[in-house]
Amino acid sequence: MATPRATPSADRIAHTLRVHSFNAAAAQYAAGRPSYPPALFDTIEELTGRPLAGSRVVDVGAGTGMATARPHARGAEVIAVEPGDGMAAEFRRTLPDVPIVRGDGDALPPAGHCADLLTYAQAWHWTDPAKAVPEVLRVLRPGGTPALWWNTDALDVPWIAQAAERGDRHFGLDLSAEKRNVNARVADPTGRLDLVRRQIR
Ligand SMILES: C[S@@+](CC[C@H](N)C(=O)[O-])C[C@H]1O[C@@H](n2cnc3c(N)ncnc32)[C@H](O)[C@@H]1O
Repeated sequence: MATPRATPSADRIAHTLRVHSFNAAAAQYAAGRPSYPPALFDTIEELTGRPLAGSRVVDVGAGTGMATARPHARGAEVIAVEPGDGMAAEFRRTLPDVPIVRGDGDALPPAGHCADLLTYAQAWHWTDPAKAVPEVLRVLRPGGTPALWWNTDALDVPWIAQAAERGDRHFGLDLSAEKRNVNARVADPTGRLDLVRRQIR
């Protein structure tokens, strides 16, 4: 007897297509995206009260390894988690010495209580927080910390604001407002994360 399968919604299909859109452009992503400033990792060390050297870090949604490379260079023991084929292949080319596991933030592959730090570099918004927050709490060691971050436009710099407005006009969108509203991306429906926010130039 055949078991009826649930049909995915149009939104779900669109989300899956967007998730996998990274994979066809992984090399361009690695070449074109800006990396992250050292000040970000200084701030993470300051807020967690723990040096990255010797810490166990899981970088979730690691992509091509742009963020993974930074704690690795500071002496952390890092493993990467990434769902996409193309991004994982680019990661292996860039960081052949760093282990990468295929998986995603909604069902993390690592065992429980193994990480001091979970990083989501421009990746948290791809997760379903209702699943991802319990996963954060499962994988972190007691006293461990999640760190979520995004690049955004410095809209207080006049030429950047003007460029953002031109982009919005061209596409008929209000992406600048969306970028300004970083708080909306840090959804925690469980209310179990005690988040602190910092803005880093
Ligand atoms: C904007 S890229 C960021 C990549 C990398 N962290 C960086 O800073 O360059 C987002 C990444 O999240 C991955 N991703 C998509 N869905 C995910 C999920 N549910 N959990 C974790 N990562 C996901 C994508 O495959 C992609 O590599």
